[in-house]
Amino acid sequence: MENIESQFQILTEQLESVRKEIMSKSIKDLIIVQNRIYSQVEALTWLSQALMLFGSLPPLRGWAASPDVLLRLHEHIRFQKPKVVVECGSGSSTLVIADALRQNGQGVLISLEHSDKFGAQTRSLLDREELTPWVDLRIADLELWAGPHMNSGKDEVLRWYSASSLVGIKDVDLLFVDGPPGKTCKYARYPALPAIADRLAPNAQIWMDDTVRQEETDIAKDWAENYGCSLEFFSLEKGLGVLTSALPNGELAVDELSKTPAFNVGLDDAIASAFEAHIKSRSLGVTLQFGISSVTLHLAEALKSENAGKLCCVAEPSELLDELQLEIQKRGLESVVSLISAPLEAWNYLYPDSTDLALKRWFDAETLEQLPPLDWVVVDGPDWQAKPYTRYPALPSVLDKLAQNAEVWMLGSESQQVRSVVNAWCSDYSLTCDSSSSRIFKLKV
Ligand SMILES: C[S@@+](CC[C@H](N)C(=O)[O-])C[C@H]1O[C@@H](n2cnc3c(N)ncnc32)[C@H](O)[C@@H]1O
Repeated sequence: MENIESQFQILTEQLESVRKEIMSKSIKDLIIVQNRIYSQVEALTWLSQALMLFGSLPPLRGWAASPDVLLRLHEHIRFQKPKVVVECGSGSSTLVIADALRQNGQGVLISLEHSDKFGAQTRSLLDREELTPWVDLRIADLELWAGPHMNSGKDEVLRWYSASSLVGIKDVDLLFVDGPPGKTCKYARYPALPAIADRLAPNAQIWMDDTVRQEETDIAKDWAENYGCSLEFFSLEKGLGVLTSALPNGELAVDELSKTPAFNVGLDDAIASAFEAHIKSRSLGVTLQFGISSVTLHLAEALKSENAGKLCCVAEPSELLDELQLEIQKRGLESVVSLISAPLEAWNYLYPDSTDLALKRWFDAETLEQLPPLDWVVVDGPDWQAKPYTRYPALPSVLDKLAQNAEVWMLGSESQQVRSVVNAWCSDYSLTCDSSSSRIFKLKV
């Protein structure tokens, strides 16, 4: 009887701890969702203020572009004053782009639309807003596409906007890709760049909407590689990939950084002196490094010489980790550094894109749970493995552990993946980021 009672007691305690864990994670997720809704309301408020329309926009949910990307589009056009804008897929974006061109007093939008029904809706909105002179709305059925495609060689019929819709298009400064619909075929938006590439002005930008979807992310990456564009992802509601096409002399710009995996960025003088300055300016208890690299030994030595607390490094089990352990012993740094070998496991919480669940992984929760309060987190791992948001969990996974005035430093600010993760943190957690230091993004949390 006593045995049953004690087992019951243990079970009750376990249940209570699971309940608490679920509650705490749900609350964190709710706060993120709340922040995301707030961001759309905020963007819509600024957008309504910027637009000079007589009536309202159609609802910006479902098929329509989201307020945040529309605001960014409007601002980009108002500031950059493009002369030729092309969009694939008409709707609210047509009104927003045309309004910005009208306010600029220059430029034209060529809008490609395949649906008579939705094209007619757009046309009547443009008439109502007296925006028709700013838009060349070209409505025509999709046609068979025989050019390069990510879906070539499959049985599916490939379609895209008609060749006749492209007549006369040249010197395009901005291409906004938001159609045709995904159900057209796999990688339905892929032909946009092959079709328009030789019609772009130098330094043109290509904006791919909806990069929270894997297909759109894959297309943007393929374009960046095959058309020599630089690519940056922005953590907007539906995700945005911005590609910049060419150098001023018209030669294609290959973004070396987009080809460089950003793991273990390595120590340089700028990083070393930023570390030293931080260690000298703060009283540090525990520093955490995600990943291991040449940075680890330097950090440990600098912390030791200033008597500035301990360094924990969390990294995947590897031979490198074993070698580093030996080096730490050789240099007499055991009292300063603990290397923690932690396997990656499923990361089930919010993530900026809709990556397959199997690819969302982070260091195991049990290991992270045991970390002490942290004053400084340096993110330099794990390896990206070609996924844009691999290091996103670095912040949410230790949020509970951060001491007051803690700082999170993300190394490798020259890399596109790093910039995407930091953008996502800033918008999900309402943070501002100091990027004045070479190769480091510094966030105060
Ligand atoms: C992603 S939508 C384009 C949205 C547009 N750029 C905007 O900001 O509203 C792509 C295509 O879906 C079609 N579409 C628009 N509204 C739709 C709706 N409510 N239901 C189904 N298809 C729609 C149109 O043919 C449009 O070209």
